[in-house]
Parts: sequence; structure tokens; C-alpha cells
Amino acid sequence: MTYLETAAKFYSEVAQTPQIGLCCVQTNSLQFPGLKIPVSMQEMNYGCGTTIHPAELVNQPTVLYVGVGGGLEALQFAYYSRYKSAVIAVEPVVAMREAAARNLEIAAIENSWFDNSFVEIREGDAFNLPVEDASVDVVAQNCLFNIFEPEDLTRALKEAYRVLKPGGRLQMSDPIATRAIPEHLQKDERLRAMCLSGALTYEKYIQHIIKVGFGQVEIRTRRPYRLLDARSYNLEENLLLESLDSVSFKVPIPEDGACVFTGKTAIYAGEQEIFDDSQGHILQKGVPAAVCDKTAAKLANLMPDKIIVTESTWHYSGGGCC
Ligand SMILES: C[S@@+](CC[C@H](N)C(=O)[O-])C[C@H]1O[C@@H](n2cnc3c(N)ncnc32)[C@H](O)[C@@H]1O
Repeated sequence: MTYLETAAKFYSEVAQTPQIGLCCVQTNSLQFPGLKIPVSMQEMNYGCGTTIHPAELVNQPTVLYVGVGGGLEALQFAYYSRYKSAVIAVEPVVAMREAAARNLEIAAIENSWFDNSFVEIREGDAFNLPVEDASVDVVAQNCLFNIFEPEDLTRALKEAYRVLKPGGRLQMSDPIATRAIPEHLQKDERLRAMCLSGALTYEKYIQHIIKVGFGQVEIRTRRPYRLLDARSYNLEENLLLESLDSVSFKVPIPEDGACVFTGKTAIYAGEQEIFDDSQGHILQKGVPAAVCDKTAAKLANLMPDKIIVTESTWHYSGGGCC
């Protein structure tokens, strides 16, 4: 059995017998006015963060959702895109497709605005998404890609890139590891399927995204997720996993490298009212300007005594200059 088959078997089990709290974090599922999340869907919340960013879901985007789970986020996306097949949810595990379909039927009874046809569940997997090239506005996945081994992660990211329209967004939530996970845990297929041992470090995770061509990555949230304690996991020291919510844009990679926004700002503290680096970055004296990490480093090196760069907040939601 391959590790992907082990994962499929595991998700078949937890589709039939929900494991409450399998992946979830200590925050409630996002609630919106008029949205009622069925209890059976709530019990199958197998995400480790959220891929729903309401401010960005204007204009009813088409969404391709990879790994439907109990259908919770498919329903939340449908809240913003209310038309037939607005959300295509791709899922390889039969029992999971059946569970999601059942949960969405209940959602249709409990939510007058929701029609079952808004979410179309299709058989398929992350490596063969059953849609045309450049056909969707958003691809989303929550707590799935972290279970893939690095080469498979690259395949899945390439596939997401393929199906996105130019300018489209890959909205992801995944565990990341605060240091490399030792091999004995990485090889444990069941722990990997449970989203506990496949996580990459932040740096490697971001590198994978950029390597397939995403020109801009924005970090929405980074927070503690699980502790792999030394005794239970046969480690020299405890190892903290974090969950990372990100949005990656299918835009060209600038010549000097991709823009990764982690919540840094640059503040000009010189003699002039305005600082202009002639590369498109204009800083008003004393006013923090959101900048990507690449620009933050450049500006800090340029005038260390006159430009202050603040730390990553790991909460960035747009509006900055590269
Ligand atoms: C950790 S669960 C997350 C479910 C859902 N995203 C959520 O937030 O509740 C992972 C999901 O991905 C599905 N899955 C497993 N292997 C997959 C693959 N190769 N391609 C796509 N989905 C897969 C599982 O069956 C399961 O539904």
C-alpha cells in the first residue's frame, strides 16, 4: 500500500465514523449571517485553519475545492457564489463524497439561500483536477497538501496553477513545522494521513509554492497547531507544529524574485517628508507602509539608520506595495 492509499483508507474511515477534533484548531468555524452549519458537517471539520477570506470573495468567484471532507468549506464558499456548480469539490474517497453529499443535503434544508446545485462534488484527486486549464478563480485546499511527500506536493501545486485563471488565487491552510520533522515520523503513514508528520518548515513550504510559478504569496494567519511531545513521538525535544493560512496569486514572478507578504512594514524616519526609492516604493515620513519581505530587506539595507522595518505579524490581508 502506498502512503496515498493509506491516507485514502484513513479518510474513508473518518468519513464513516467522524473523529471530532481530528485536525481542528481552537477557533470556531467561520459563521456568516444566515449561514447554518449542520452539526454533522461541524463534526467533520477536518481543516487546520480557514481558506475562506470573505473580503476577497466578491463577484461570485468560481471555486475548485480539493479534498471536500464533510463539505464545510464548500458550503462556506457557496455562501459567496450562489449559482450552479460555482464550487467544484474534488474528492477521491467514495465514503467522503457520500458523507459530503449527505451533509450538503442537510445544509440545503437548514439554509433557505442554499441550493445543492451550487456545490458539485466530482471524483478526482489533487494530481488530476477534472477541470480545464485556466478555468477557475480560486483553488482551495485545507489540511490536505501537507500530507503529500515533497514531489507530490509539487505535482499538486502545479495542477492548482494549471487550472487557475491568470491572477487567480490558491487559498490554502496547512500545518507547518517549526523545524524539520525527523524521518521516522515522516515515514509513519498514519501520522502523515492525520496531518501530523508530513509538514514542511515554513521556508520549504513557501519555496514549493514559488517554484511552480506563483509570483505573490500572502500569509493570512500563522498560529500554534499541535505539539509533538518528545516522549510520545520519540523525539529529542518537543516539536511545535503551526497552522499557516496563505493566499498565493497566479501572477508572474518579478525579475528580482517572488513577493511574500508576512505583515512587515517599512517606516521612513529621515529628514524629508517622503522617501522614494525610484523602484515604485514611496514612503511617507512616519507612516508604516506594508511591504513584502524582499522589499523590506532591500529598504533596510539601503538606509538602516533612516528606514525602520517592523517584524512579520503573520497577518497580512492585502494593500501593500512589493
Ligand atoms: C484533512 S481532510 C480535510 C477536509 C476538508 N478540507 C476540511 O477542511 O474539513 C483531507 C481531505 O482530502 C481528501 N483527500 C485525500 N487524498 C486526496 C488526494 N490525493 N486528492 C484530493 N483529496 C484527497 C480526504 O479524503 C479528505 O476529504
